[in-house]
Amino acid sequence: MTRDQHGLPLNVHMVDLFAGPGGLDVAAQWLGVAVDGIEWDADACATRDRAGLKTRRGDVRDIHAKEFPDARVLAGGPPCQTYTVAGTGDGRRALSEVVTAAESMAAGEDPAEVFTNLDERTRLVLEPLRWALEAHEAGNTYEAVVLEQVPAVLPVWRTVRDVLRRIGYSCECGILRTEQFGVPQTRRRAILIARRDAEASLPRPTHRHFRRGVPYDAGDQSPLPPWKTMGETLDRATPFTVISNYGTGGNPKLRGRRTSDEPAFTVTGKVRRNKVQMPGGIIERFDFAEAGMLQTFPRDYPWSGRDVAQQIGNAIPPRLAVHVLASALGRRVDPESLDDAVTRSWADAQGKLPLVHSTALTAESPDPDPK
Ligand SMILES: C[S@@+](CC[C@H](N)C(=O)[O-])C[C@H]1O[C@@H](n2cnc3c(N)ncnc32)[C@H](O)[C@@H]1O
Repeated sequence: MTRDQHGLPLNVHMVDLFAGPGGLDVAAQWLGVAVDGIEWDADACATRDRAGLKTRRGDVRDIHAKEFPDARVLAGGPPCQTYTVAGTGDGRRALSEVVTAAESMAAGEDPAEVFTNLDERTRLVLEPLRWALEAHEAGNTYEAVVLEQVPAVLPVWRTVRDVLRRIGYSCECGILRTEQFGVPQTRRRAILIARRDAEASLPRPTHRHFRRGVPYDAGDQSPLPPWKTMGETLDRATPFTVISNYGTGGNPKLRGRRTSDEPAFTVTGKVRRNKVQMPGGIIERFDFAEAGMLQTFPRDYPWSGRDVAQQIGNAIPPRLAVHVLASALGRRVDPESLDDAVTRSWADAQGKLPLVHSTALTAESPDPDPK
């Protein structure tokens, strides 16, 4: 990887498997990282095309690392259907099968053989590992690997972490909460970061953890700023309350509620089922631009194709992804430029990227939240 005089990587090129509408790729572009996304869904590809994101339309399983020889970073957010049922018998079975398969790949078994015994959908989660091993065996080891998924996949990431360590990476994985990175939404993601030439670490929170009932300005002992709210993110003139489409405490009749002084519930493909209660009892819905903004996409992100709500719900929030990618590249993010990037028009930003400034991450960098 070419570096500038401060040791920061220059002209970084990333290949993003299962690239979706581009949550990770928006973050990459903000940071000045060039991306090739691989995605097969026509609707997600329609959004990507209009957003100007480079895409190879195809099935990740049919494509090989050697087809992207310039990529120095591998990223992937595989689909998660089998794991979202992790609490069920099916989910547990899928998880234990996939962990065993990852161990076989680590032991040098041919991925094609290993995959033969796996359910097609379950297998997808190990595709990034196949790519990383292929590149390594070809002598073109990625400098960094970044993976993201729902929290239920953490046991798989732990196995992938062990495999990557065995081939020389420093690697860490864990669960990150989006509101602790300035996303106006509570959502948890299982993140893996691997680095070849330096110590890997997960990014440190930049904002406070949201706790129900703790007021916005209660200011616990943390030096971090409070979480970002729906109210400060969206352009609604008056306060509002969101009534979730999901029940709470296992009771489907008891709908969760969040005020506009709080972060949003996790934005899913069903986001339009949330009721937005305005003054006077008027019930509205979030439109796609608003749902995208709660995920920290720019307000004018050109959502296209069908099932836009699902595309939005599938994505990693770009604001979280910036911190994850920056850690993988050994960079520390300048918070003001990140605030600016998130509120900037996507159309206007083109040609002015990178928007997010970063400096080298050093071992001496102070922990903003030492607790
Ligand atoms: C969880 S989403 C990824 C979201 C993405 N990381 C983002 O931030 O926007 C998973 C994506 O994988 C795509 N996908 C599923 N199977 C695929 C395959 N075999 N080849 C290519 N894309 C696939 C889906 O269409 C979906 O868009």
